[in-house]
Amino acid sequence: MNPQPSTRSAVQHDPEAWRPRFPILASSTYLVTHSLGAMPHSVYDKLKDFADQWATRGVRAWAEGWWDAPIQVGNLLARLMNAPQGSVVMHQNVSVIESLVASCLDFGGPRNRVVYDDQNFPTNMYVWEGCRRLGAEIVCLPSRGRMGVPLEEMLAAIDERTLIVPISHVCFRNSFKHDAKAICKRAKEVGALVLLDTYQSLGTVPVDVQELDVDMVCGGSVKWLCGGPGAGYLYVRPQLLSTLEPRITGWAAHAAPFAFELGAQRYASDATRLLHGSPAVAALYAATAGYEILLEVGVERVRAWSIARTQALREDLLGRGFEVPSPEDPDQRGGTLTVRLRPQENGSAFVAALEQRGILVDHRPEAGIRVSPHFYTRADELEFFAESLSELRESGAWREFARAQKNY
Ligand SMILES: Cc1ncc(COP(=O)(O)O)c(C=O)c1O
Repeated sequence: MNPQPSTRSAVQHDPEAWRPRFPILASSTYLVTHSLGAMPHSVYDKLKDFADQWATRGVRAWAEGWWDAPIQVGNLLARLMNAPQGSVVMHQNVSVIESLVASCLDFGGPRNRVVYDDQNFPTNMYVWEGCRRLGAEIVCLPSRGRMGVPLEEMLAAIDERTLIVPISHVCFRNSFKHDAKAICKRAKEVGALVLLDTYQSLGTVPVDVQELDVDMVCGGSVKWLCGGPGAGYLYVRPQLLSTLEPRITGWAAHAAPFAFELGAQRYASDATRLLHGSPAVAALYAATAGYEILLEVGVERVRAWSIARTQALREDLLGRGFEVPSPEDPDQRGGTLTVRLRPQENGSAFVAALEQRGILVDHRPEAGIRVSPHFYTRADELEFFAESLSELRESGAWREFARAQKNY
Protein backbone atom coordinates (compact mmCIF):
# COMPACT_ATOMS: atom_id res chain seq x y z
CA MET A 1 0.00 0.00 0.00
CA ASN A 2 1.59 3.25 -1.10
CA PRO A 3 -1.03 5.96 -1.58
CA GLN A 4 -0.11 9.09 -3.49
CA PRO A 5 -0.01 12.36 -1.55
CA SER A 6 -3.34 13.50 -2.97
CA THR A 7 -5.15 10.39 -1.69
CA ARG A 8 -3.28 10.56 1.62
CA SER A 9 -4.80 13.91 2.47
CA ALA A 10 -8.21 12.69 1.36
CA VAL A 11 -8.39 9.73 3.78
CA GLN A 12 -11.99 9.24 4.85
CA HIS A 13 -11.64 8.92 8.57
CA ASP A 14 -12.99 10.86 11.52
CA PRO A 15 -11.08 10.28 14.77
CA GLU A 16 -13.84 12.08 16.68
CA ALA A 17 -16.10 9.08 16.03
CA TRP A 18 -13.78 6.90 18.15
CA ARG A 19 -12.37 9.25 20.76
CA PRO A 20 -15.21 9.07 23.30
CA ARG A 21 -14.44 5.35 23.66
CA PHE A 22 -10.97 6.08 25.10
CA PRO A 23 -11.12 7.93 28.44
CA ILE A 24 -7.52 9.18 28.47
CA LEU A 25 -8.01 11.16 25.27
CA ALA A 26 -10.17 13.65 27.16
CA SER A 27 -7.29 14.66 29.41
CA SER A 28 -4.12 14.27 27.34
CA THR A 29 -2.57 14.50 23.90
CA TYR A 30 -1.90 10.80 23.64
CA LEU A 31 0.88 10.13 21.10
CA VAL A 32 2.54 7.14 22.73
CA THR A 33 0.59 4.16 21.34
CA HIS A 34 3.88 2.48 20.24
CA SER A 35 4.47 1.99 24.00
CA LEU A 36 0.99 1.63 25.52
CA GLY A 37 -2.21 2.01 23.51
CA ALA A 38 -5.03 4.01 25.10
CA MET A 39 -7.46 1.90 27.13
CA PRO A 40 -10.90 1.41 25.59
CA HIS A 41 -13.72 2.25 28.02
CA SER A 42 -15.20 -1.21 27.36
CA VAL A 43 -12.32 -2.77 29.34
CA TYR A 44 -14.30 -1.85 32.48
CA ASP A 45 -17.18 -4.06 31.25
CA LYS A 46 -14.88 -6.91 30.24
CA LEU A 47 -13.24 -7.01 33.66
CA LYS A 48 -16.57 -6.70 35.42
CA ASP A 49 -17.91 -9.64 33.38
CA PHE A 50 -14.87 -11.64 34.43
CA ALA A 51 -15.39 -10.77 38.11
CA ASP A 52 -19.12 -11.51 37.87
CA GLN A 53 -18.38 -14.92 36.33
CA TRP A 54 -15.97 -15.71 39.13
CA ALA A 55 -18.34 -14.39 41.80
CA THR A 56 -21.49 -16.08 40.58
CA ARG A 57 -20.39 -19.12 38.57
CA GLY A 58 -17.34 -20.05 40.61
CA VAL A 59 -15.61 -23.22 39.44
CA ARG A 60 -18.14 -23.65 36.61
CA ALA A 61 -16.52 -20.65 34.89
CA TRP A 62 -13.68 -22.89 33.67
CA ALA A 63 -16.10 -24.84 31.49
CA GLU A 64 -18.02 -21.70 30.56
CA GLY A 65 -15.17 -19.98 28.75
CA TRP A 66 -12.15 -19.62 30.98
CA TRP A 67 -10.31 -22.77 29.90
CA ASP A 68 -10.92 -22.10 26.22
CA ALA A 69 -10.00 -18.41 26.47
CA PRO A 70 -6.55 -18.79 24.84
CA ILE A 71 -8.19 -20.18 21.69
CA GLN A 72 -11.40 -18.13 21.73
CA VAL A 73 -9.52 -14.87 22.22
CA GLY A 74 -6.98 -16.04 19.63
CA ASN A 75 -9.86 -16.52 17.19
CA LEU A 76 -10.75 -12.85 17.46
CA LEU A 77 -7.15 -11.86 16.76
CA ALA A 78 -6.97 -14.38 13.92
CA ARG A 79 -9.51 -12.22 12.07
CA LEU A 80 -7.15 -9.25 12.33
CA MET A 81 -4.34 -11.15 10.59
CA ASN A 82 -6.40 -13.28 8.18
CA ALA A 83 -5.39 -16.48 9.98
CA PRO A 84 -7.64 -19.55 10.02
CA GLN A 85 -9.80 -19.99 13.12
CA GLY A 86 -8.04 -22.16 15.68
CA SER A 87 -4.53 -21.22 14.53
CA VAL A 88 -3.78 -18.47 17.09
CA VAL A 89 -3.15 -19.19 20.79
CA MET A 90 -2.70 -16.70 23.59
CA HIS A 91 0.18 -16.51 26.05
CA GLN A 92 1.41 -13.88 28.44
CA ASN A 93 4.06 -12.15 26.33
CA VAL A 94 6.51 -12.38 23.44
CA SER A 95 9.43 -13.48 25.65
CA VAL A 96 7.52 -16.61 26.68
CA ILE A 97 6.38 -17.27 23.11
CA GLU A 98 9.85 -17.01 21.54
CA SER A 99 11.20 -19.26 24.31
CA LEU A 100 8.44 -21.76 23.60
CA VAL A 101 9.18 -21.78 19.86
CA ALA A 102 12.91 -22.13 20.54
CA SER A 103 12.14 -25.11 22.76
CA CYS A 104 10.70 -26.95 19.71
CA LEU A 105 13.96 -26.79 17.76
CA ASP A 106 16.97 -29.06 17.50
CA PHE A 107 20.21 -27.13 17.14
CA GLY A 108 22.37 -30.28 17.09
CA GLY A 109 22.59 -30.75 13.29
CA PRO A 110 24.24 -28.80 10.46
CA ARG A 111 21.15 -26.61 10.14
CA ASN A 112 21.66 -24.71 13.37
CA ARG A 113 21.69 -21.03 12.40
CA VAL A 114 19.38 -18.42 13.87
CA VAL A 115 19.40 -15.37 11.60
CA TYR A 116 18.15 -11.92 12.57
CA ASP A 117 19.32 -8.31 12.60
CA ASP A 118 20.38 -5.97 15.37
CA GLN A 119 17.03 -4.17 15.22
CA ASN A 120 15.30 -7.19 16.68
CA PHE A 121 13.66 -6.40 20.01
CA PRO A 122 16.28 -7.23 22.68
CA THR A 123 14.06 -9.71 24.55
CA ASN A 124 14.11 -11.92 21.44
CA MET A 125 17.91 -11.78 21.31
CA TYR A 126 18.13 -12.85 24.94
CA VAL A 127 16.04 -15.92 24.16
CA TRP A 128 17.98 -16.96 21.03
CA GLU A 129 21.42 -16.14 22.45
CA GLY A 130 20.55 -18.56 25.25
CA CYS A 131 20.24 -21.31 22.64
CA ARG A 132 23.98 -21.15 21.92
CA ARG A 133 24.45 -23.59 24.78
CA LEU A 134 22.24 -26.04 22.85
CA GLY A 135 24.36 -25.68 19.71
CA ALA A 136 22.69 -22.72 18.00
CA GLU A 137 24.82 -20.42 15.87
CA ILE A 138 23.51 -16.88 16.11
CA VAL A 139 23.91 -14.66 13.04
CA CYS A 140 22.99 -11.09 14.00
CA LEU A 141 23.26 -8.81 10.97
CA PRO A 142 24.46 -5.28 11.77
CA SER A 143 22.51 -2.24 10.61
CA ARG A 144 25.70 -0.13 11.04
CA GLY A 145 23.97 3.21 11.45
CA ARG A 146 21.68 2.60 8.48
CA MET A 147 17.91 2.76 8.71
CA GLY A 148 17.81 -1.03 8.76
CA VAL A 149 19.59 -4.03 7.25
CA PRO A 150 18.81 -3.88 3.50
CA LEU A 151 16.69 -6.68 2.09
CA GLU A 152 19.54 -8.05 -0.09
CA GLU A 153 21.70 -8.56 3.01
CA MET A 154 18.86 -10.28 4.87
CA LEU A 155 18.20 -12.59 1.92
CA ALA A 156 21.89 -13.40 1.43
CA ALA A 157 22.24 -14.45 5.08
CA ILE A 158 19.37 -16.97 4.88
CA ASP A 159 20.64 -20.25 3.44
CA GLU A 160 20.56 -24.03 3.88
CA ARG A 161 22.26 -23.69 7.28
CA THR A 162 19.43 -21.49 8.58
CA LEU A 163 17.01 -23.10 11.00
CA ILE A 164 14.90 -20.07 11.87
CA VAL A 165 14.63 -16.34 11.13
CA PRO A 166 13.05 -14.69 14.21
CA ILE A 167 12.81 -10.98 13.30
CA SER A 168 10.78 -7.93 14.29
CA HIS A 169 8.50 -6.88 11.44
CA VAL A 170 8.80 -3.22 12.50
CA CYS A 171 11.74 -1.96 14.55
CA PHE A 172 10.74 -0.52 17.94
CA ARG A 173 13.45 2.15 17.74
CA ASN A 174 13.11 3.84 14.36
CA SER A 175 10.00 2.16 12.88
CA PHE A 176 11.94 0.53 9.98
CA LYS A 177 9.75 -2.16 8.41
CA HIS A 178 11.17 -5.32 6.87
CA ASP A 179 9.89 -6.72 3.61
CA ALA A 180 8.50 -9.74 5.43
CA LYS A 181 7.04 -11.34 2.30
CA ALA A 182 10.39 -11.47 0.52
CA ILE A 183 12.10 -12.81 3.65
CA CYS A 184 9.46 -15.55 4.06
CA LYS A 185 9.85 -16.49 0.39
CA ARG A 186 13.62 -16.82 0.71
CA ALA A 187 13.31 -18.83 3.93
CA LYS A 188 10.86 -21.20 2.30
CA GLU A 189 13.18 -21.75 -0.69
CA VAL A 190 15.96 -22.93 1.61
CA GLY A 191 13.79 -24.80 4.13
CA ALA A 192 14.14 -22.34 7.02
CA LEU A 193 11.36 -21.19 9.36
CA VAL A 194 10.30 -17.58 9.96
CA LEU A 195 8.98 -16.29 13.29
CA LEU A 196 7.76 -12.75 12.68
CA ASP A 197 7.32 -10.49 15.72
CA THR A 198 4.48 -8.18 14.71
CA TYR A 199 4.26 -6.37 18.05
CA GLN A 200 4.99 -3.03 16.37
CA SER A 201 2.92 -3.70 13.25
CA LEU A 202 -0.34 -5.61 13.93
CA GLY A 203 -3.05 -3.03 14.57
CA THR A 204 -1.43 -0.21 12.59
CA VAL A 205 0.07 -2.03 9.55
CA PRO A 206 -2.07 -4.61 7.73
CA VAL A 207 -0.70 -8.10 8.42
CA ASP A 208 -2.08 -11.02 6.39
CA VAL A 209 -0.40 -14.27 7.39
CA GLN A 210 -1.66 -16.06 4.29
CA GLU A 211 -0.47 -13.37 1.92
CA LEU A 212 2.91 -13.24 3.64
CA ASP A 213 3.05 -17.05 3.61
CA VAL A 214 4.69 -16.85 7.03
CA ASP A 215 5.26 -19.84 9.33
CA MET A 216 4.79 -18.19 12.71
CA VAL A 217 3.75 -14.78 13.98
CA CYS A 218 3.86 -13.48 17.53
CA GLY A 219 3.34 -10.25 19.40
CA GLY A 220 1.62 -8.62 22.33
CA SER A 221 -1.45 -6.45 22.77
CA VAL A 222 -0.06 -3.56 24.76
CA LYS A 223 0.53 -1.18 21.87
CA TRP A 224 -1.43 -0.80 18.62
CA LEU A 225 -4.04 -3.37 19.65
CA CYS A 226 -5.02 -1.32 22.73
CA GLY A 227 -5.37 -4.58 24.64
CA GLY A 228 -3.25 -3.98 27.73
CA PRO A 229 -0.59 -6.24 29.25
CA GLY A 230 -0.68 -10.03 29.60
CA ALA A 231 -2.09 -10.99 26.20
CA GLY A 232 0.62 -12.25 23.83
CA TYR A 233 -0.39 -14.11 20.67
CA LEU A 234 1.19 -16.88 18.62
CA TYR A 235 0.04 -17.90 15.15
CA VAL A 236 1.44 -21.10 13.67
CA ARG A 237 0.78 -22.26 10.11
CA PRO A 238 -1.57 -25.23 10.68
CA GLN A 239 0.51 -27.57 8.46
CA LEU A 240 3.48 -27.05 10.79
CA LEU A 241 1.72 -27.98 14.00
CA SER A 242 2.42 -31.70 13.99
CA THR A 243 6.16 -31.00 13.72
CA LEU A 244 6.27 -28.85 16.87
CA GLU A 245 6.77 -30.47 20.26
CA PRO A 246 7.70 -27.67 22.69
CA ARG A 247 9.80 -28.61 25.72
CA ILE A 248 8.29 -25.57 27.41
CA THR A 249 4.94 -27.23 27.88
CA GLY A 250 2.29 -28.19 30.41
CA TRP A 251 -1.08 -29.80 30.89
CA ALA A 252 -2.99 -27.29 28.76
CA ALA A 253 -0.98 -28.64 25.78
CA HIS A 254 -1.97 -32.26 26.48
CA ALA A 255 -4.33 -34.20 24.21
CA ALA A 256 -6.56 -34.94 27.21
CA PRO A 257 -5.70 -32.51 30.04
CA PHE A 258 -8.56 -33.60 32.27
CA ALA A 259 -7.57 -37.28 32.02
CA PHE A 260 -4.57 -36.32 34.19
CA GLU A 261 -2.40 -38.98 32.56
CA LEU A 262 0.94 -39.65 34.21
CA GLY A 263 4.28 -39.69 32.42
CA ALA A 264 5.42 -37.93 29.27
CA GLN A 265 3.52 -35.22 27.42
CA ARG A 266 1.04 -36.45 24.83
CA TYR A 267 0.59 -33.33 22.70
CA ALA A 268 -2.84 -32.21 21.48
CA SER A 269 -3.12 -32.41 17.71
CA ASP A 270 -4.48 -28.85 17.36
CA ALA A 271 -2.91 -25.49 18.28
CA THR A 272 -3.53 -26.09 22.00
CA ARG A 273 -0.32 -28.17 21.86
CA LEU A 274 1.42 -24.78 22.03
CA LEU A 275 -0.11 -23.84 25.41
CA HIS A 276 1.34 -24.55 28.83
CA GLY A 277 -0.65 -24.09 32.08
CA SER A 278 -3.80 -22.30 33.26
CA PRO A 279 -4.48 -19.15 31.22
CA ALA A 280 -4.43 -15.56 32.57
CA VAL A 281 -8.13 -15.18 31.83
CA ALA A 282 -8.66 -11.62 33.13
CA ALA A 283 -5.89 -10.21 30.92
CA LEU A 284 -7.21 -12.09 27.88
CA TYR A 285 -10.77 -10.84 28.39
CA ALA A 286 -9.56 -7.27 28.88
CA ALA A 287 -7.59 -7.45 25.64
CA THR A 288 -10.67 -8.29 23.55
CA ALA A 289 -11.95 -4.73 24.05
CA GLY A 290 -9.14 -3.38 21.87
CA TYR A 291 -9.38 -6.16 19.27
CA GLU A 292 -13.10 -5.56 18.83
CA ILE A 293 -12.60 -1.85 18.17
CA LEU A 294 -9.80 -2.51 15.68
CA LEU A 295 -11.96 -5.00 13.82
CA GLU A 296 -14.66 -2.34 13.71
CA VAL A 297 -12.36 0.42 12.43
CA GLY A 298 -10.44 -1.89 10.06
CA VAL A 299 -6.64 -1.94 9.93
CA GLU A 300 -6.56 -0.74 6.29
CA ARG A 301 -8.26 2.44 7.41
CA VAL A 302 -5.99 2.78 10.45
CA ARG A 303 -3.00 2.48 8.14
CA ALA A 304 -4.27 5.06 5.65
CA TRP A 305 -4.88 7.54 8.48
CA SER A 306 -1.50 6.74 10.04
CA ILE A 307 0.32 7.37 6.76
CA ALA A 308 -1.52 10.62 6.17
CA ARG A 309 -0.79 11.90 9.68
CA THR A 310 2.84 10.76 9.87
CA GLN A 311 3.59 12.29 6.45
CA ALA A 312 2.10 15.62 7.54
CA LEU A 313 3.95 15.52 10.86
CA ARG A 314 7.21 14.60 9.17
CA GLU A 315 6.96 17.61 6.86
CA ASP A 316 6.02 19.89 9.76
CA LEU A 317 9.01 18.72 11.84
CA LEU A 318 11.47 18.97 8.94
CA GLY A 319 10.20 22.49 8.28
CA ARG A 320 10.97 23.38 11.88
CA GLY A 321 14.54 22.10 11.52
CA PHE A 322 14.19 18.75 13.28
CA GLU A 323 15.78 15.55 12.01
CA VAL A 324 13.32 12.69 11.51
CA PRO A 325 15.38 9.53 11.14
CA SER A 326 12.48 7.08 10.53
CA PRO A 327 12.33 5.86 6.90
CA GLU A 328 11.03 8.51 4.52
CA ASP A 329 8.97 6.09 2.45
CA PRO A 330 5.83 5.20 4.45
CA ASP A 331 5.94 1.76 2.85
CA GLN A 332 9.17 1.10 4.73
CA ARG A 333 8.01 2.14 8.16
CA GLY A 334 5.41 1.29 10.80
CA GLY A 335 3.17 3.73 12.65
CA THR A 336 5.82 5.67 14.57
CA LEU A 337 8.10 8.58 13.73
CA THR A 338 11.31 9.29 15.62
CA VAL A 339 12.66 12.78 16.13
CA ARG A 340 16.41 13.05 16.67
CA LEU A 341 17.59 15.69 19.11
CA ARG A 342 20.94 17.45 19.17
CA PRO A 343 23.73 15.81 21.20
CA GLN A 344 23.52 18.52 23.86
CA GLU A 345 19.74 18.10 24.21
CA ASN A 346 18.32 15.69 26.77
CA GLY A 347 15.55 13.46 25.43
CA SER A 348 14.09 12.55 28.81
CA ALA A 349 13.91 16.22 29.73
CA PHE A 350 11.98 17.00 26.52
CA VAL A 351 9.59 14.14 27.28
CA ALA A 352 9.00 15.48 30.81
CA ALA A 353 8.50 19.03 29.54
CA LEU A 354 6.00 17.81 26.95
CA GLU A 355 4.17 15.82 29.60
CA GLN A 356 3.71 18.99 31.60
CA ARG A 357 1.80 20.32 28.58
CA GLY A 358 -0.33 17.17 28.54
CA ILE A 359 1.54 15.59 25.59
CA LEU A 360 2.55 11.96 26.12
CA VAL A 361 5.45 10.63 24.02
CA ASP A 362 8.65 8.79 24.96
CA HIS A 363 12.34 8.65 24.20
CA ARG A 364 14.68 5.80 23.31
CA PRO A 365 18.49 5.95 23.36
CA GLU A 366 20.01 6.00 19.85
CA ALA A 367 16.58 6.70 18.38
CA GLY A 368 15.18 9.94 19.76
CA ILE A 369 11.66 10.98 20.69
CA ARG A 370 9.08 8.48 19.48
CA VAL A 371 5.69 9.87 18.43
CA SER A 372 2.72 7.94 17.08
CA PRO A 373 -0.70 8.77 15.77
CA HIS A 374 -3.38 6.07 15.89
CA PHE A 375 -6.93 6.07 14.53
CA TYR A 376 -8.03 8.17 17.53
CA THR A 377 -5.47 10.94 16.94
CA ARG A 378 -6.56 14.30 15.52
CA ALA A 379 -4.36 16.24 13.09
CA ASP A 380 -4.24 19.27 15.41
CA GLU A 381 -2.78 17.15 18.23
CA LEU A 382 0.27 16.42 16.09
CA GLU A 383 0.57 20.08 15.18
CA PHE A 384 0.46 20.94 18.89
CA PHE A 385 3.26 18.40 19.50
CA ALA A 386 5.48 19.84 16.74
CA GLU A 387 4.86 23.40 17.88
CA SER A 388 5.59 22.54 21.53
CA LEU A 389 8.78 20.71 20.62
CA SER A 390 9.96 23.70 18.62
CA GLU A 391 9.15 26.11 21.42
CA LEU A 392 11.01 23.98 23.97
CA ARG A 393 14.07 23.90 21.75
CA GLU A 394 14.02 27.62 21.09
CA SER A 395 13.31 28.70 24.65
CA GLY A 396 15.62 26.10 26.23
CA ALA A 397 12.83 25.46 28.77
CA TRP A 398 13.49 21.70 28.54
CA ARG A 399 16.60 22.26 30.71
CA GLU A 400 14.45 22.70 33.81
CA PHE A 401 13.36 19.09 33.36
CA ALA A 402 16.82 17.61 32.92
CA ARG A 403 16.82 15.11 35.71
CA ALA A 404 16.73 11.33 35.57
CA GLN A 405 13.50 10.00 34.11
CA LYS A 406 12.24 6.47 33.95
CA ASN A 407 11.64 5.15 30.44
CA TYR A 408 8.71 2.80 29.92
C1 LIG B 1 8.88 -5.62 18.66
C2 LIG B 1 8.69 -5.95 20.13
N1 LIG B 1 8.79 -7.22 20.55
C3 LIG B 1 8.62 -7.55 21.84
C4 LIG B 1 8.36 -6.58 22.80
C5 LIG B 1 8.16 -6.93 24.25
O1 LIG B 1 8.09 -8.28 24.52
P1 LIG B 1 7.30 -8.87 25.76
O2 LIG B 1 5.90 -9.15 25.30
O3 LIG B 1 8.03 -10.11 26.12
O4 LIG B 1 7.33 -7.86 26.87
C6 LIG B 1 8.24 -5.25 22.40
C7 LIG B 1 7.97 -4.20 23.43
O5 LIG B 1 8.22 -3.07 23.30
C8 LIG B 1 8.42 -4.93 21.05
O6 LIG B 1 8.35 -3.65 20.63
